[in-house]
Order: sequence, then C-alpha cells, then structure tokens
Amino acid sequence: QMKSLEDIFEAKIARDEKIEPKDWMPEKYRKTHIRQISQHAHSEIVGMLPEGNWISRAPSLRRKVALLAKVQDEAGHGLYLYSACETLGISREELYDQLHSGKAKYSSIFNYPTLTWADIGAIGWLVDGAAIINQVPLCSTSFGPYARAMVRVCKEESFHQRQGYEIMMTLCNGTQEQKDMAQDALDRWWWPALMMLGPTDDESTHTEQSMKWKLKRKTNDELRQQFIDQTVPQADILGLKVPDEDLQYNTETGHYDFGEIDWEEFWQVVKGHGMCNKERISARKNAWDEGEWVRDAALAYADKQADKEVK
Ligand code: ACO
Repeated sequence: QMKSLEDIFEAKIARDEKIEPKDWMPEKYRKTHIRQISQHAHSEIVGMLPEGNWISRAPSLRRKVALLAKVQDEAGHGLYLYSACETLGISREELYDQLHSGKAKYSSIFNYPTLTWADIGAIGWLVDGAAIINQVPLCSTSFGPYARAMVRVCKEESFHQRQGYEIMMTLCNGTQEQKDMAQDALDRWWWPALMMLGPTDDESTHTEQSMKWKLKRKTNDELRQQFIDQTVPQADILGLKVPDEDLQYNTETGHYDFGEIDWEEFWQVVKGHGMCNKERISARKNAWDEGEWVRDAALAYADKQADKEVK
C-alpha cells in the first residue's frame, strides 16, 4: 500500500529526521514556521537598536569593540534567519514590508529603553541568557535550515551572555554608585526578561501544535523555569537582589518558586504600546529608506558586471 505524503512527513518527524525546504509539508507547518522564524529574524534586527544606542558611549575601547561585535552578530543572525524563512516560499521584500508596516511581531523585550551602561550588562546577561535557553532546544527543531542556523547563533549568543555578565561583575565590584546602577538595571530588566519567553502554557496558542511538530522542544513555562533556576544563583554571585519578594527555592521541587508576572504589561507591549515600540519601528524604517542608495548602487554594479559577461 502506498504511503501518503502526510504519512511520510509524520514518520520523519517521529524519527527525528529533518524536514527540508523541498520536502512535502503540511501547509500549516509551513505557515507556522514562516511566522516563528520571521518573528525571530525581526527580533534579531530590532534587537540591534537598544544596544546600538550605547556603541558611541561605551566606557572603554575594549567595551566598544565587544559591543560592536555583538551588535554585528545580531545582524548576521537576522540574515541567516531571513534566508531560512525564504526557503519556505516568502520573499525578503514581503518580510521587510511586514516589519516596516508594523504588521509583524518581534520580541517584546526590545521595546524597553537602555537608560544606563549597566543596561548593556543586563541585556547580555539576562536577555541573551534567556535567548540561549530558548534557542539551544531549537538546534534540534524539525525544520533543517532553522535548526542549522541555530547552532551557530547559540555559539555567538553564549559569547554575548558572557560579555554582559562580565560588565555586571565589573560594576558590582566597583563603587557603590556602579553597584546601584547594576541593581537598577536588574530591577528594570528582570520581569521583561521573564515575559520574553512567551505567555504561560495555558495562554499560548501555538505551543501544543508546535511541540507535536517538534518545532518547539520545550514549552514557554519550562523555559522560563529553567531561566530562573539558572539565573538566580548568578545574581547571588553578583551580590544583587532579584526584584521578586516571592522568589524562593523550593526544596521539594528543586526549582525556584516565583511571583506573579504582569501579563497585562506583556500584552500591551506586544500590541505596540510599549515604551519604545514607535521609536523602534521608525528607526528601522529610516535605516531602510536611508540605505536605498546603497541598494541602488549595488544593483547598478551587479548589472554592469552582468553586461560585461554578455560581451
Ligand atoms: N514578544 C512578542 N510576541 C510574543 C512573545 C514575545 N516575547 N512571546 C509570544 N509572543 C506572541 C507569539 O508570537 C504569538 O503571536 P502570533 O500568534 O501573532 O504569532 C502569541 O504571542 C502567542 O504566543 P505563543 O503561542 O506562545 O507563540 P510561540 O509558540 O511562537 O512561542 C516563542 C513564542 C517562545 C517566542 C517562540 O516563537 C520562539 O521560540 N521563537 C524563537 C525565538 C525568538 O524569536 N526569540 C526572539 C528574541 S531572542 C533574540 O533575538 C536575542
């Protein structure tokens, strides 16, 4: 008896084999991958903005070099992810248009402002720390191009996390004023970092199906718990206090119990009403418009080269 295309697809998923762009896949699998991979790509690109804000004000040449490298890595991550997304039959133009028109989602976390240098430390430590926890399982996601992109992305994220934690260490070993600055950054970034991992499992629309397709290998709540368990001891080493009165190690479960997350704030940010949503989109649009001459020049050059080859 002939197996249907759907059976072949399901069998591949069951065997943990990768689905490749030219393989048959259910339309919903394709759509949900375009959704998640494009949101991920947009997040990398918009994620350059809060940190780019500090490149010209980094406190030393060494810090500036590391921050520049990190922000460039994020541009690279965005480009791998856009390429992976294009293999699913959507064009780069459409993807950019969705971002610039405000139609596309990108991570809530990048709509918060970077007020002091300590924010650069906190972003590396917490935001990239949460990103690693979210992305390591994605290295074994079922769609081949996404999984392969994640391997390199995770290596680079791990450097980002360390550069952030090292900034925090330096501040925490510094003057009282520097330590206060580090605490203030932790106070402002802690809760948004927990929100970044997505709504609770019972509010998450896509988790159940995405787990079945092995797009997601862990649920939002599992990732959040893992992030908290890993990060609280790191705060202790810094001598900083996590801003959660209910945070407590539970000897029975072996995990930290934690306080209520303000999901109202999360959804407001997702809907476009966060502190920096408008600023981020307009910065992206400006960068796109002001880069038009570069794209035109590159195309004109490519045309000229093609003409030469014909003759
Ligand atoms: N910010 C903005 N929107 C979010 C966020 C967030 N932090 N978390 C969830 N959402 C949105 C989802 O996109 C979805 O909306 P949609 O249906 O319009 O697409 C809705 O909230 C419901 O959430 P879920 O059903 O839980 O969505 P999903 O299964 O896609 O899980 C998650 C969300 C965990 C973020 C997943 O998409 C994922 O792992 N993405 C890849 C990682 C990524 O994008 N990281 C970005 C930040 S890391 C970095 O760039 C450094």
